[in-house]
Amino acid sequence: MKPIKKVVFPVAGMGTRFLPATKAMPKEMLPIVDKPLIQYAVEEAIEAGCTEIIFITGRSKRSIEDHFDKAYELESELAFKNKNQLLESIQDILPSNVSCLYIRQAEALGLGHAVLKSLPAVGNEAFAVILADDLIDAQPGTLTQMIEVYNRLGNTVLGVEEVDPNETGFYGIVEVSEEKDYLKVDSIVEKPHPDVAPSNLAVVGRYVLTPKIYEFLATIPRGAGGEIQLTDAIARLLQYETVVAYPFSGKRYDCGSKIGYLEANLAFGIKHPQTADNFKKIVLETANNLQD
Ligand code: UTP
Repeated sequence: MKPIKKVVFPVAGMGTRFLPATKAMPKEMLPIVDKPLIQYAVEEAIEAGCTEIIFITGRSKRSIEDHFDKAYELESELAFKNKNQLLESIQDILPSNVSCLYIRQAEALGLGHAVLKSLPAVGNEAFAVILADDLIDAQPGTLTQMIEVYNRLGNTVLGVEEVDPNETGFYGIVEVSEEKDYLKVDSIVEKPHPDVAPSNLAVVGRYVLTPKIYEFLATIPRGAGGEIQLTDAIARLLQYETVVAYPFSGKRYDCGSKIGYLEANLAFGIKHPQTADNFKKIVLETANNLQD
């Protein structure tokens, strides 16, 4: 089995829930304290051993390319002013053995369509997919945990967590059965109404996929919301291959929603070395004022 080296970041969505902030800027560039969401996600992939990063980009996504590129002017300015710590923070974003590739998704036809666009770069090998707006604080990183499962079982692995039963309509929901040392996915359905959801186990933004997924992505019709859904392709895949649900350990923040994004900034702000002390005071004062 070839080790997982390729990771796909679909970043071509419209980010409508964050308008007007995302009118000209990708939501993946929204910062959590001082780092954009996409950088947290790329760091997670690198920690997991990935060395080939494939971004599926769209309109207004240039800043992502720039972020992972060298910034000569800025670097020489910081070097000139002896701001060495800041200089390191922008030089060390990508290790030298990691390469980036950008593929354009001209129309945002859905997550499944975005993943299909990665086929020429991925080819016939298993690969990872990370949705950067699902920020997961975990040790080791969630993708590291999932690749460990893939290395053991050799199957597609979906990152899952229990969600509020009233919120199934926002997620791909799986029905699972317990095997000896893993959870087997028996069915998967996109955004089911709580009344008909098979469980409250939701697929969140982490996947390790076998290349057979491309066969189904290329042929499935548009699904929920008129989009080509990755969930629908996985539903077909599990008729041919075992698909594993992996309840990762870690705290997830849904940074595609305003409330999840605010919560992530709060959680990361109170533990960031440069902001922790002052920010904790501010949070406590604010909480006290709210009680008054
Ligand atoms: P979302 O549905 O959460 O993102 O897609 P969105 O469409 O950008 O956001 P809203 O709902 O309008 O606010 C999940 C992920 O899939 C990517 C998005 O960029 C996001 O990372 N995506 C979605 C694509 O790359 N292409 C698509 O056509 C759709």
